[in-house]
Amino acid sequence: MSLFQAIRGMHDILPNQIHFWQYLEDKMRHLANQYGYEEIRTPLVETTGLFKRTIGEVTDIVEKEMYTFQDRHEDRSLTLRPEGTAGCVRAVLEHSLAYNKTSKLWYMGPLFRHEKPQRGRCRQFHQFGMEAFGIPTPDIEAEMLVIIWHLWQQLGLRDKVQLELNTLGSVNARQAYREALVQYFERYRSDLDEDSLRRLALNPLRILDSKNPALQEIILNAPKIQAFLEPASEIHFAQLCEYLQHLNIPFILNPRLVRGLDYYCETIFEWTTQHLGAQSALGAGGRYDGLVELLGGQPTPAFGFALGCERIVELLKDTHESEIFPPKPHIYCISQNYACQQEMFLIAEHLRDTLPQLKILIHYGQGSASFKSQFKKADQSGAALAFILGQEEKSKGLIAIKFLRENREQQLYSKTDVTSFLRDYFSF
Ligand code: HAM
Repeated sequence: MSLFQAIRGMHDILPNQIHFWQYLEDKMRHLANQYGYEEIRTPLVETTGLFKRTIGEVTDIVEKEMYTFQDRHEDRSLTLRPEGTAGCVRAVLEHSLAYNKTSKLWYMGPLFRHEKPQRGRCRQFHQFGMEAFGIPTPDIEAEMLVIIWHLWQQLGLRDKVQLELNTLGSVNARQAYREALVQYFERYRSDLDEDSLRRLALNPLRILDSKNPALQEIILNAPKIQAFLEPASEIHFAQLCEYLQHLNIPFILNPRLVRGLDYYCETIFEWTTQHLGAQSALGAGGRYDGLVELLGGQPTPAFGFALGCERIVELLKDTHESEIFPPKPHIYCISQNYACQQEMFLIAEHLRDTLPQLKILIHYGQGSASFKSQFKKADQSGAALAFILGQEEKSKGLIAIKFLRENREQQLYSKTDVTSFLRDYFSF
């Protein structure tokens, strides 16, 4: 037992699980590349002010969940990033990545939120996200949604997910809506809980997000943003819906969807699943046209999303465990003695150069172990073939190949013929 343990809610991803992650990451990376998004990697730590300003002071993330600490070396407050958009926008501005041009970025990596850990909810978790700058039209929104839709297809999860859409309208519409909400909730002041009362003064939209069962009916009857939308927002949203219908992406309109971060306007969305218990959100995003300006840049339309990798991996494990497995070695190399093992090193090196797809393992111990125990290890490794080099084969320039997964006679090959045999055998 180790003297130290990982922090609660921050998990090791072990070798016997990593193939699920790599499987997912490969697909996401490939999709990003197919659609012409460029990768960006920003630091895990930023100044606290960046998150307060972007996410909003009166949000769960900023009020309760950030890992914030005083820098011991300089007089400033730092925070482990709780989400990826803020750092991305900071970097875009700092390096003028979207100045008078469009920019389409993606990222993948760990985030930190001090939430109550449970299945699908961690304190260190991972997101795959995309952010596009300089594109005000709904086509970019449709593109990102179709990318995610593609991902669900490739992962075999299409029948497990649902897209929920809403629009928050323009900044002006939100202001009018905010006032209407204040008026409405004022009438129920005595029913509101402490959190909602505070939000009533500071950020009434957040009351709509309350999980308090006692408030659900009041929230249900609250005014809806739809009544405050300007014609331009209505057209924008209707066009997005048209794109989705055209692309055959099913969605439902959810006028109660508000999102837990303050920077959104116009389109917002969430992908949910019924298959993960309470943590139903697989990913979410929306438009944040005011954020670049809020951080000191030129007004720049922006849209993006992030998917929660832990939750997708959970879903993959539940539904496709038997189809996703770590790549097995092709060859396990067994040698009779020290000289044979040295020769085996050269053979394996040559094969790795000529057929880079091969995964080749060598039995360590400089050929001192019996063939029997080496075969046992070869079998356990899951390799398809064992390469065997005894003194006799070595002196004749041959190599013995044993078929570990088929009932087939062991065969001898000359070193020069081995490559073409492998090419045929594995159909490289
Ligand atoms: P978010 O809704 O806070 O949005 O997070 C996106 C996704 O990250 C969630 O839907 C969920 O799958 C996952 N997630 C969040 N918290 C946790 C947690 N504690 N444990 C496991 N998974 C979690 C954002 O972060 C925005 N930055 C998305 C965005 C990008 N909007 C525009 N661009």
